[in-house]
Amino acid sequence: METAFRSRSRIRHIITERAPAKINLALHIRRRRDDGYHELETLFAFLRDGDEITITSGQKGLSIDGPFASGLETGGNNLVARATKTFAQLVDTKTQYDVRLTKNLPIASGIGGGSADAAATLRALARLNGIALDDPRLFACADALGSDVPACLYGRTAIGTGRGERLEPLDGLTGTPVLLVNPGVAVSTAAVFRAWNGIDEGPLGEGDPLAIARDGRNDLEVPAKSIAPVIGEVLDRLDETQPMLARMSGSGATCFALYDSEESRVSAAVAIRAGAPGWWCLESTLA
Ligand code: C5P
Repeated sequence: METAFRSRSRIRHIITERAPAKINLALHIRRRRDDGYHELETLFAFLRDGDEITITSGQKGLSIDGPFASGLETGGNNLVARATKTFAQLVDTKTQYDVRLTKNLPIASGIGGGSADAAATLRALARLNGIALDDPRLFACADALGSDVPACLYGRTAIGTGRGERLEPLDGLTGTPVLLVNPGVAVSTAAVFRAWNGIDEGPLGEGDPLAIARDGRNDLEVPAKSIAPVIGEVLDRLDETQPMLARMSGSGATCFALYDSEESRVSAAVAIRAGAPGWWCLESTLA
């Protein structure tokens, strides 16, 4: 959404950009690389809901509000601040921006929050500066910011290989009801990858996204459970709601379940909230 208003003599632009939650419908680790990363085959999908970025030309820098704001710092390590800096180098601009991040998604939770925020910042800045969203320079910025940022920049169902940055779009699953559940435990992505047993269990399968997801697995589930055993409880409770598929996303601890109807997802959410009132739940649909 873009609006413009006249302040004294100049026009100020405000851009609001959604930063949708990402889930990994499947995540296969094929091998450890010499650079410390892991070679992946993953199926990314995106929700209609997530964080929100609002950008105005100004001087104040980054501010954060929303239910999960307190877990984040606004300094130079914040991925949104890094995205702004990387973008400024790309377009060689001295323009300064006020960036507001509304943090609706839990932090360090396997649903790409920071990556989605950085990608949304890049999209908003690109639109403010007349740069096309498929400009390869924008993708290069995303790639430099993190393994999931290119997928979040694209924002649609895709197979990711390499670190996750090489993307092949796939159609299907749009509108599928989804429930996210997080038990309130932050998990370090690097620590979960380090705990992987190093055994290649094979590639993603073929077919439509649901078939690939159902035949697939998340190889980070076992190492994440060894760090945060409550993830097993989340998955057990989601399985009891009879979804089409329930699985952990990314390096956890957030797990997702897909349903064949809105009614099934609503009853599942009611059951999960009643059984574990302290857990965070998000009811949404796939984009
Ligand atoms: O790329 P990003 O900074 O988001 O990755 C965070 C951490 O996750 C990396 O430092 C690395 O430990 C791990 N990672 C990995 N292999 C990948 C992606 C991430 O080992 N393909």
